[in-house]
Amino acid sequence: MKVTSVINQKGGVAKTTTSINIAAAWASQGLRILLIDLDPQSSATKSVFGDREFDKTIYDVLVAQTTADEAIVNSETFGFDMIPGEIMLSGIDIQLAPQFGRESFLKRKLKNLHQNYDHVLIDCSPSLGLLTINALMASKDIIIPICPEYFSLKGIELILETLKNIRVGLGHKVNVKGVVITRYKNRKIAREVIEKVQEEYQLRVFTDYIPDSIAVEEAHHIHQPVFNYAPRNPASKAYLKLSKGLLEA
Ligand SMILES: Nc1ncnc2c1ncn2[C@@H]1O[C@H](COP(=O)(O)OP(=O)(O)OP(=O)(O)O)[C@@H](O)[C@H]1O
Ligand SMILES: [Mg+2]
Repeated sequence: MKVTSVINQKGGVAKTTTSINIAAAWASQGLRILLIDLDPQSSATKSVFGDREFDKTIYDVLVAQTTADEAIVNSETFGFDMIPGEIMLSGIDIQLAPQFGRESFLKRKLKNLHQNYDHVLIDCSPSLGLLTINALMASKDIIIPICPEYFSLKGIELILETLKNIRVGLGHKVNVKGVVITRYKNRKIAREVIEKVQEEYQLRVFTDYIPDSIAVEEAHHIHQPVFNYAPRNPASKAYLKLSKGLLEA
């Protein structure tokens, strides 16, 4: 079981969109996938399940005796299992602060699932707080989605700094699988940012850029993977190609 986090503390860069569509694409290729919604906004949960309410969420797993198993729900439409998120996650930094080993709660809770899944994907919130640190401690790899613009570079620098702190402070090394370009429009600034990511930070940029397309937004609204909703759309094709690229990376 490989655990990968989708992270960027910048909001709205398509972390959730990338998480659910890659998870669904992997599932459609026959892999056993678990998606964890580790964001108080719970956009991934809402995109997959609409307004459905859940007895147990990842919040219960982190703060109570609930096992990860007990919080798992299946989505037939997306083909994967999921642990939903909820708004209560927003207080977790304070709740877990006094606890010993607070950075590794998620990692410990996922241990029992090892035989059950090929991949676990964690959709992180736009912050580098304790929730994201828990995601990083549980992960071997990360994927960084960016909408290529000038400020993306500063964001990447912060993520790399956080990875260094985790390596030095907590003894856990996280590998950056690569950067996913989202909402791509063929503009000079986008090309410049992509070049800088490769040259200055020596990171792999996946060549399947995800183009900006209204179909992506529409697919969220009808609770489907974009490649089911609009199979011929360039964004759908890009996510499917990217999902294969990620498996080989
Ligand atoms: N390729 C795309 N084309 C058009 N719209 C997109 C694309 N990718 C994402 N979006 C839209 O951009 C918005 C933000 O996407 P998303 O929620 O996936 O980002 P996020 O990084 O998870 O945000 P947050 O930081 O709030 O968690 C959503 O409305 C989504 O539908
Ligand atoms: Mg999100």
